[in-house]
Amino acid sequence: MKDIDWGNLSFSYMDTGAFVKAEYHDAKWGKIEKCTDAHMPLHIAATSLHYGQSCFEGLKTFTMKNGEVAIFRPEENARRMFETADRLMMVGPPEELFVEACYEAVRLNRDYVPPYGTGASMYLRPLLIGTTPRVGVQAAEDFLFVVLAMPVGPYYKNGFFPVKSWVQEKYDRAAPHGLGHVKAAANYVAGLKGDYEGKKLGYPICMYVDSAEHKYIEEFGTSNFVGITADKKYITPASDSILKSITNKSLQTLAEDMGYTVERRLIAFDELSKFSEVGACGTAAVITPIHSVTRGDKTITFGSADKAGEVLTAMFKELQGIQYGDVADRHGWMKVVK
Ligand SMILES: Cc1ncc(COP(=O)(O)O)c(C=O)c1O
Repeated sequence: MKDIDWGNLSFSYMDTGAFVKAEYHDAKWGKIEKCTDAHMPLHIAATSLHYGQSCFEGLKTFTMKNGEVAIFRPEENARRMFETADRLMMVGPPEELFVEACYEAVRLNRDYVPPYGTGASMYLRPLLIGTTPRVGVQAAEDFLFVVLAMPVGPYYKNGFFPVKSWVQEKYDRAAPHGLGHVKAAANYVAGLKGDYEGKKLGYPICMYVDSAEHKYIEEFGTSNFVGITADKKYITPASDSILKSITNKSLQTLAEDMGYTVERRLIAFDELSKFSEVGACGTAAVITPIHSVTRGDKTITFGSADKAGEVLTAMFKELQGIQYGDVADRHGWMKVVK
């Protein structure tokens, strides 16, 4: 076990012992290899550099209460990367290769997996890039798949507090029928400037509305939108330009377990004030409670500024409880690394 101040780690890159890679050449995937040098040779004309053939995933590994180390729903990320790859004219790693590469990345970095009780976890970052040199706009025939692993700190060091959000309307993040529903690297550069502007104005999280009409709620910069109503509904947007969040999918299951009705549908921005609680959900934080949403000169608030709503708090605790093994894994989400 490494001598690391686990409780004070932030969400940032750390060079650990090793990462894994697999290469695709001549229409087939090679075997998983261990790598220790974080710098890898890449052809200067690789399609990932010139034409954005690049996508990634993000998932977490936890030391559970019983001492086992387990990854949260890796097969879901495998499927999403496969779908993303197809949209970007890339060849995604098959599910077994993806999941085994995640297991191997954890095994190789076992000393960096934060212990139970620290609130920290190990973040896995699978990455897929096109490596064939091309100058004409054409898809690659060669791909590199890597999985990095590093410990990250507890997201809520100072408690589960609500944050202020702001609607970014100057820059759209994703077009209808574009790339918004997949985890293309390009989506993140599209959102960088908008998110940066929001942060400069004091809003940690930007909300995006649909780019065609600016009428419907889409999602936050790196998380899905969830709204709770007083009549026990969990409402989340249906849109083909938002990422299919695995956290959101899991929370929908837990919401049903808790007796909530789940609705996936268009949500007009004008409906926002009807929600009793609003949250942003994703792997990094599970749920970020939203206290307010500002659009132009109007601000809509939800609950108290210094306390998260009780429904989202209960859902957050339930999902984290499953991840850390404090709550029974009744849906079979935790995949133990052997
Ligand atoms: C744009 C976007 N939406 C939603 C999410 C949440 O997805 P997940 O719950 O799978 O982490 C993420 C984070 O990966 C994201 O980048």
